[in-house]
Amino acid sequence: MQIFGVDIGGSGIKGAPVDLDRGDLAEERHKVLTPHPATPDAVADAVKQVVDHFGWTGPVGLTFPGVVTGGATVRTAANVDRSWIDTDARALISGRLGGLPVTVVNDADAAGVAEVAFGAGRNRRGTVILLTFGTGIGSAVFTDGRLLPNTELGHLELDGHDAEKRASSKAKDDHDLSWQEWAVRVQRYLAHVEMLFSPELFVIGGGVSRKAHKFLPHIEGIKAEIVPAGLQNNAGIVGAAMHAAQDGASGGARS
Ligand code: BGC
Repeated sequence: MQIFGVDIGGSGIKGAPVDLDRGDLAEERHKVLTPHPATPDAVADAVKQVVDHFGWTGPVGLTFPGVVTGGATVRTAANVDRSWIDTDARALISGRLGGLPVTVVNDADAAGVAEVAFGAGRNRRGTVILLTFGTGIGSAVFTDGRLLPNTELGHLELDGHDAEKRASSKAKDDHDLSWQEWAVRVQRYLAHVEMLFSPELFVIGGGVSRKAHKFLPHIEGIKAEIVPAGLQNNAGIVGAAMHAAQDGASGGARS
């Protein structure tokens, strides 16, 4: 079965039809740049461009980089325009896509669900925490494979700062940090999350998961195992489609 997945990020909006049986993209993904300011209308137009690129007419699962309740309503918007807050993103995007069935889920939760089903968190019991390092830091917390939705561990306060302002990959770019310098910050952050949750496993997602060999060797003193996301930066797209399938938007899924 296929459902279309779209991952709305701070820098890019990317999507592809997802093969839900394999947990992988069915076609090469298409990406457009996130508009600035990333208002609801501008982002909805960009999502339409991505979906139209494939001529897709079935259900669509979307991620959003903020808290999302009920598969629809945006509650926070740290890295997109604040006018998203309290927007019914499902209604907005479905309307822009001519009424296609749409569901919306937090981006890190989506990536986590995909990793637990098909990637680095597969068959892992106990507490597993996926952290995505990108424009912000996203988190997905699992116990025995079950998600606690909408955790916001990127906004833990660390040494007097919002943690994602110190340790996201955007912070690496903004402060022109080397991989080693950035790894020191990531290590400090992981130690703090470990102190609070004692996970068995950290899965590192986001664009940096492709470059894990550049920074993971510099991270020391964390008791939990640390591995890069198996689906790398496609985990959000796959998880968005999985969420749509579970949420019942699958009425018109292609089989
Ligand atoms: C948001 C999270 C999101 C993360 C990654 C944070 O700023 O608050 O909801 O998962 O960025 O995009």
